[in-house]
Amino acid sequence: MTPTREPASSSRRGWLKGALAGSAVLPWVGTGRTEDGNVPLRGGFSQDVHRIRLYSSAVTAPVKLLFAADTHLSRDDARGEPFREYSARMAGGYQRTRHFQSGAETHPEACFLETLGVAKSEAAASVVLAGDLLSFPSEAAVEWVLARLGEAGLPWLYTAGNHDWHYEGLPGSSEELRREWIEKRLRPLYDGRDPHASAVVIGGVKVLLIDNSTYEITPEQLDFFRRETAGESPVILCVHIPLYAPGRPVGFGCGHPDWGAATDKHHAIERRPLWRGRHSETTMTFHREVFASPHLLGVFAGHTHQLSTDVINGIPQVVAGANATGAHLVIEILPTPE
Ligand SMILES: [Fe+2]
Repeated sequence: MTPTREPASSSRRGWLKGALAGSAVLPWVGTGRTEDGNVPLRGGFSQDVHRIRLYSSAVTAPVKLLFAADTHLSRDDARGEPFREYSARMAGGYQRTRHFQSGAETHPEACFLETLGVAKSEAAASVVLAGDLLSFPSEAAVEWVLARLGEAGLPWLYTAGNHDWHYEGLPGSSEELRREWIEKRLRPLYDGRDPHASAVVIGGVKVLLIDNSTYEITPEQLDFFRRETAGESPVILCVHIPLYAPGRPVGFGCGHPDWGAATDKHHAIERRPLWRGRHSETTMTFHREVFASPHLLGVFAGHTHQLSTDVINGIPQVVAGANATGAHLVIEILPTPE
């Protein structure tokens, strides 16, 4: 999201606090047997604020992931000098933040280090970095992240957010700029994986990362999703921009029926082209198929900077708060209790 975004209303914050204050066990659709007599892969979902538990009959041993999005790192050096005109606004956006739990003043680098510490103490199998890790594509920030991940000795997965590849005001479409700056700056963060779509199996759970940081899905990504969810493995889907959920604003912009040029409020301040008129048919089909997938345990996203949970067709989508404040999710995938 852009730092100019209006803060959520206090009434909405209050509702969220109330909804998430205790152990929230949401009604689960998918118990019993499927039409073909099989036990469904989705065996339950519970949430204690930022700790998520997903149960599946296809998992034999617990799997734990640390999920973080929107760290908004802005470290830069002389190599960024020629781009200052394009990075200045975002570089100023997250110099000081308030810690998501203590409320104390902090900053994104301290929060990122703290989050890696949580991943280690939780013995997470992998850290999932789900976009807007950076506020702009700074080489110095990429090097800093890679060094810290290396020191922590933690495996990680990464997919880009809309700010990771964006120098505000540089000419080009979002698709062109994403392609260009992935190659110029972000490539090492992928550790050899495909930036647009990748799948990693961890403890029998397939973790899919799909780059929807332009808000849209390509035909290749739709094919990828179909292919990767066609097997027997339980799947979790990680994206930067949340998928549309009924009642949500266009921040939940992937597949939102109102997404398009008429609802693009930030194009001028972010100095980028207006969103296209409306979503492609491919993006809308992707949204429909995600929430019809029998193998999908859950969707995890960032971008709004606001912890939220929606359940669509029995599939939960959890959006993490901004890691620039230390917010993150601990995702546990557990065997369904007998
Ligand atoms: Fe974002």
